[in-house]
Amino acid sequence: MQTISRLDDLRQALALSKSGGKTVALVPTMGALHQGHLTLVRQARARADIVVVSIFVNPRQFGPNEDFSAYPRQLAADAALLEAEGVDVLWAPTPEAMYPAGFATTVSVAGLDAPLCGANRPGHFDGVATVVCKLFNQVRPDVALFGEKDWQQLAIIRAMARDLDLTAPHVDAIIGVPTVREADGLAMSSRNRYLTAPERTAALALPTGIEAAIATLREGGPAQPVLDTLRAGLLAAGFSRVDYADLRDAETLEALDALGSRPARVLVAAQMGKARLIDNWPAN
Ligand code: PAJ
Repeated sequence: MQTISRLDDLRQALALSKSGGKTVALVPTMGALHQGHLTLVRQARARADIVVVSIFVNPRQFGPNEDFSAYPRQLAADAALLEAEGVDVLWAPTPEAMYPAGFATTVSVAGLDAPLCGANRPGHFDGVATVVCKLFNQVRPDVALFGEKDWQQLAIIRAMARDLDLTAPHVDAIIGVPTVREADGLAMSSRNRYLTAPERTAALALPTGIEAAIATLREGGPAQPVLDTLRAGLLAAGFSRVDYADLRDAETLEALDALGSRPARVLVAAQMGKARLIDNWPAN
């Protein structure tokens, strides 16, 4: 595996493979890798000749009071995990390489960025869309893989790729990978390490609460009382704040009054101790 931090070197490393007709898969990450990330890497490995994993803790997607400086950074340990997965290139640009002095462009996906995490984290998705657009242009992958755990992020990236003509043949496919969970059901996240042992136990109310809400929604009837019960259950379990607990159209992210025939998801963000946790499940 080559670890590369300069764009010229990345282009050079990939040019040879591409001219030889090899396909390239990209897995963008912020590092602190866990089995969720590694599942994306394995799917990338199965889909392309060359696998590029990026690790970049993107300052532009963190708000002023968020955990940018505390976010775990462990490049050497991450590199060892990626090497063991047979990754070809670890793309680890410096902040200066990604955002040179005078950098002035923002990619903004209006509409899809308004609800859910967009409402609680102003500017977050502009930061995500901008960096992912840059990564697509830097790597020019045939395939890019993202987790369904960040459902709104995936929807925004798909819309950006469509709107900016980053889809085929530039990025042939954007693949969503189902959420990888701990044995007890908690979605894997780099932020789970912020939880104390009792908080980790209490956090289980997130997936179990969503599951119970979906079972009730499937019986029919209005969504609001079910979502109110979900929210109350999370607060009772020890979450200090519930940013949202919504039933939404899986594609448009429009809020729904009840489960219908179109694919829908229940999506939740809630604060447990120092960790803001998110999760979502298909409702139908
Ligand atoms: P990060 O949180 O490191 O996640 C990198 C990728 O791994 C994302 O596509 C995310 O959805 C996926 N992922 C995280 N936990 C997962 C889980 N438990 N199961 C399945 N997939 C999971 O998301 C980001 O980084 C950044 O916003 C990024 C896209 C890299 C842009 O900076």
